[in-house]
Amino acid sequence: MTNKLPLSISDVGHISIAVPNLKEAQLFYSKTFGCEASETIDVPAQGIRMVYIFFNNIKIELMEPTNTSSPIQKFLDKNPTGGLHHICLTTNDAQTAKSKLLEDDIRILAAEKVTKGHHGRDIFFMHPKDALGTLIEIEQTDN
Ligand code: CO
Repeated sequence: MTNKLPLSISDVGHISIAVPNLKEAQLFYSKTFGCEASETIDVPAQGIRMVYIFFNNIKIELMEPTNTSSPIQKFLDKNPTGGLHHICLTTNDAQTAKSKLLEDDIRILAAEKVTKGHHGRDIFFMHPKDALGTLIEIEQTDN
């Protein structure tokens, strides 16, 4: 496996939006667009709870902070009405994806660590300053 770009990316996995009130945000998507939502998922490790909003081709992840030290709380301090937080791209090999990016001097957040998401899949985040100002999550698919 070569360490050169491009990454092997299959899909946009989800789009993630930070919201100050999860229930109201979910209601907005169901009332306005008729969207179905997942159960509420608590992710204490990240200080958030979240709901997935389902579309045929993609899901939107709504995230609400559960404590003041949550990174999502810091985002809402700057953007009180909420807003687009990150997009997620899926790959079949997160470690290889990370190596390729580092080889091309694209920074990886959180000490360049690949961690497990709440779903148990490998994830990491690219530095937004090295990605056109967008926070990009790379997630390994199940296979
Ligand atoms: Co995400």
